[in-house]
Amino acid sequence: MTSISIIGAGNMAGAIASVLAKGGASVQIVAREADKAAEVAAAANGTSAVFGDALTGDIVVLAVPFAAVDDIKATYADALAGKVVVDITNPVDFGTFDGLVVPADSSAAAVIAEALPGAKVLKAFNTNFGATLATGLVDQTTTTVLVAGDDADAKQALIDAVVAGGLKAVDAGSLKRARELEAYGFLQITLAAAEKTSWTAGFALHA
Ligand SMILES: NC(=O)c1ccc[n+]([C@@H]2O[C@H](COP(=O)([O-])OP(=O)(O)OC[C@H]3O[C@@H](n4cnc5c(N)ncnc54)[C@H](OP(=O)(O)O)[C@@H]3O)[C@@H](O)[C@H]2O)c1
Repeated sequence: MTSISIIGAGNMAGAIASVLAKGGASVQIVAREADKAAEVAAAANGTSAVFGDALTGDIVVLAVPFAAVDDIKATYADALAGKVVVDITNPVDFGTFDGLVVPADSSAAAVIAEALPGAKVLKAFNTNFGATLATGLVDQTTTTVLVAGDDADAKQALIDAVVAGGLKAVDAGSLKRARELEAYGFLQITLAAAEKTSWTAGFALHA
C-alpha cells in the first residue's frame, strides 16, 4: 500500500488527502496543531501527528506555504533524505502580486531540492486549485495533476497514487519544468483573483 505523509492541515492537505485515500493510500496528517491534524486525518481515515513527530509515509507532501521551507528543513532534513518529497507551493510574491519570490531561472522546487539533499523532490498539485482536487473536475473535465521530477520511480509512484484516486496525472518532465509549472500556477491565480476565471475551476488539460 502506498503510504503518504502530508505536512499541513489546510485546504490543500485536506483535498490531497481525500484523493490519495480514495485511491487506497494510507495517509498521515502532520500539523502544528494536533486538533487540526486529527480533523483532516479523520476525513481521510488516516492517522495524525504533530509537526516534529516521525513521518510514516514513503511519499511526503509539503502542503504548506513556500515560506515554511526553512522550518521543514530545520525539523525534517535528515528524515526526508531518501523519501519522495512533493512540493505543491506557488511561491507568489504577495507583496507585489506581480511575480514569484524565487529567482526567474529557478523554482520553489529547486530551492526545496537544494535544502533537502537526498530527497527525491517532485513538483505536483500546484496547478490545481483545491476545489478541483476535491470534486475531481475542472468544469466538465477530469482534473489533471501535472508532475515534474528527476526520479522516474518517484514520479510514477505519485502518478499511480493520483490516478488510483480518480484523477488524471501527467508526467510533465524533469524538475526543471517546475519553473514553468509555477509560472502556470501563478497565472491561474492572477486570473482567478481578477475574477476572469473561478477559484473552483481553472486550467484543464485535454489530451
Ligand atoms: N489553496 C489552493 O487552491 C492551492 C492550489 C495550489 C497550490 N497551493 C499551495 O499549497 C500550499 C498550501 O496552501 P493551502 O491553501 O492549503 O494553505 P492553508 O489552508 O493556509 O494551509 C497551510 C498549512 O500550512 C501550515 N503551515 C504554515 N506554515 C507552517 C510552518 N512554518 N510549519 C509547519 N506548518 C506550517 C498551516 O498550519 P497552521 O494552521 O498551524 O498555520 C496549515 O496547516 C501553499 O504553498 C499554496 O501555494 C494552494
